[in-house]
Amino acid sequence: MRQRISSTIVVIASSPSRAAQMNSPNPVQVRCLETLGDREIQGLSDVLTDCVEGGASVSFMSPMTRAKAEAFWRSASASMARGERVVLVAEDAAGAIVGTVQVIWAQPENQPHRGELAKMLVHRRARRHGVGAALLAAAEQCALSAGRTLLVLDTASDDAERLYARQGWQRVGVIPDYALLLDGGFCATTLFFKDLRGAPPRAPC
Ligand SMILES: CC(C)(COP(=O)(O)OP(=O)(O)OC[C@H]1O[C@@H](n2cnc3c(N)ncnc32)[C@H](O)[C@@H]1OP(=O)(O)O)[C@@H](O)C(=O)NCCC(=O)NCCS
Repeated sequence: MRQRISSTIVVIASSPSRAAQMNSPNPVQVRCLETLGDREIQGLSDVLTDCVEGGASVSFMSPMTRAKAEAFWRSASASMARGERVVLVAEDAAGAIVGTVQVIWAQPENQPHRGELAKMLVHRRARRHGVGAALLAAAEQCALSAGRTLLVLDTASDDAERLYARQGWQRVGVIPDYALLLDGGFCATTLFFKDLRGAPPRAPC
């Protein structure tokens, strides 16, 4: 089933005053995309590569290469073209992509109300300024606008666990030995969900 979302819409734009509150020199804008051009693929590959090189367990093993990163985003782009997911990007004042997250719509026909959050990534140079929180809020807004009222995710990151818990996600539990670490050896994953039905109404995505 193709999920309709208006393309390339500004979801959240941090005002200069918000940026000042965040102690950030640059406001960050979050956009919800339906397609990825070459500029986005390059910027997203920069972010993905930086996160993996920083030790994030996000589906990849060492060594991380540019080719693997670009192949991942080209595949995501094809999936977006099939209407299976949206990719949100956070861009700094110069238009550089500093973070991203995805909402995956494709689900069995008996779960039309559910979406999956994936690949929450913020470049190390942009962390701890509220970019992750802005991406999460925008992803939830996108999901609600698309009629999705239940989101699920799994994470192997303590930083991400705190982010999700802060924004009202419920921790379900831990699955041991779920994936491999970058250099081998098992790591656990933690499952979360959020019921969006109690969320306050927002402007359409
Ligand atoms: C998890 C991740 C996405 C968080 O992104 P982020 O942009 O740093 O997130 P936020 O800025 O919203 O919050 C991070 C922390 O900064 C704090 N913070 C936010 N704005 C701040 C500010 N202006 N000044 C000081 N601290 C601030 C938050 O309170 C939070 O604190 P905590 O570490 O005690 O929980 C990021 O660390 C990341 O990309 N990790 C690697 C990839 C990964 O593992 N992703 C998870 C996949 S599920």
